[in-house]
Amino acid sequence: AATTRYEAESSPAVCTGAIETEWAGYSGSGFCNATNATGAYAQFTVNAPAAGTATLRLRFANGTTTARPAALIVNGTTVQTPSFEGTGAWTTWVTKTLTVQLNAGSNTVRLNPTTSAGLPNVDYLEV
Ligand code: GCU
Repeated sequence: AATTRYEAESSPAVCTGAIETEWAGYSGSGFCNATNATGAYAQFTVNAPAAGTATLRLRFANGTTTARPAALIVNGTTVQTPSFEGTGAWTTWVTKTLTVQLNAGSNTVRLNPTTSAGLPNVDYLEV
């Protein structure tokens, strides 16, 4: 199936923090710099043509040397806790592949940091 890119800065995505453009290399018109706190999040609403296993590609940058783990919450349920490693610079964007189960139709995919360091900067999610 074709890949759809969902930009973190574009509604219906939600970024509890700021949409920023400070670090080059992002796709679209900016990226989500969520507040560095456990309650912050980046959320995407994605469409799946059918229920089943889906490969998500999350593009992020983490210019620190400390990984930033986050709960990956699909339709309200935490399904895994990927660690978003340091990428070397805030301008170095990398893509992490995440395998999840989606419902047919609309799904919410939220990243919720598990430490007060917060999320990496989040560029987009591809499904
Ligand atoms: C810096 C950087 C931000 C980043 C933040 C963080 O302020 O400019 O883009 O989000 O660090 O540590 O989360």
